[in-house]
Amino acid sequence: MLRSSLLYLSRQQGIFDFVKNVGFARKMASRFVAGETVNTALDAVAQLNAKGISASLDLLGESVHSEAEARETGRQYLEILDRIHARTLDANVSVKLTALGQDISDDLGVEIVRDVIARAKQYDSFVRLDMESSAYTDRTLDTFEQKLFPGHENNVGVVLQSSLRRTLADVARANKLSARVRICKGAYLEPPAVAFPDKADVDKNYVAAMHTLMLEGRYPGIATHDEAIIAEAKRFAKEKGIAPDRFEFQMLYGVRRDLQEQIVKEGYRMRVYVPFGSQWYPYLMRRLAERPANIAFMAGNIVKE
Ligand code: FDA
Repeated sequence: MLRSSLLYLSRQQGIFDFVKNVGFARKMASRFVAGETVNTALDAVAQLNAKGISASLDLLGESVHSEAEARETGRQYLEILDRIHARTLDANVSVKLTALGQDISDDLGVEIVRDVIARAKQYDSFVRLDMESSAYTDRTLDTFEQKLFPGHENNVGVVLQSSLRRTLADVARANKLSARVRICKGAYLEPPAVAFPDKADVDKNYVAAMHTLMLEGRYPGIATHDEAIIAEAKRFAKEKGIAPDRFEFQMLYGVRRDLQEQIVKEGYRMRVYVPFGSQWYPYLMRRLAERPANIAFMAGNIVKE
């Protein structure tokens, strides 16, 4: 109930307009967001790299409705890739197709993201297409398969969500292409017709997708903070003789930093998703929805300071 209320609030632009200048809300966001500028984000990446953790930078922002905004977001991503390269940081980027104009037209989104992928290729880097709500799954996967992946097999990958009933079929499709997949549980409120309502089923589907990706896929990103699933990934890799450099664990900035460091110490690869920028409200609300206890946790920390 609280999860669905928080996810509902995440879509209310009017509330963001109201809270964005409230110090308390900004402070809560700073737990999960690496500042509002490229500089603050790159500094956060440098700190992670110093601990042996790589990163994926996400310029916060979701669906845009003007071509100028979409092109500006694309331009900023080119700059981010240039600056990652200039500082020799270990980081790639994550993009949302809707932030690059997909809701205006598929062609515009494709044109802009292709430029970003081309720049990533120039630096031997990588662009991950984040997955948004199920309304975008088909469009995103079709665009990826037909227009972005061919010719850029090493430089672009997708995300699949174990909450969706369709996901094992999508895993098979991606493995057939030999495309890189990040597997996550899924952060959006979805109808039971398309998604499993019970968390136990989401977790079971995650493990099934993860096993297939580890066995048959190409360098999967195992994106979760779920300790039972992480333990299962390690156990499965040992059982099947899958070397630790054939996959990576991924976590979110500010979440389970202890576990991030522990996993690196154990000899596994870890990538942290580092969001930054001024459009932090929907992102923050999704993080609170995942763990409503964060509201009390962050409020407590803020009050103590
Ligand atoms: P789960 O929600 O079961 O949590 C397991 C444990 O982790 C909890 O018990 C808690 O201790 C801890 N935890 C989880 N979330 C926390 C939080 N916010 N704060 C503190 N502790 C927390 N989703 C999507 O739909 N599209 C996408 O493209 C992506 N991309 C993405 C990239 C990366 C690198 C990650 C890690 C996650 C995503 N996600 C995503 C989000 C994902 O779908 C999911 O909502 C969150 O990862 C939370 O799910 P867990 O797998 O951690 O499990």
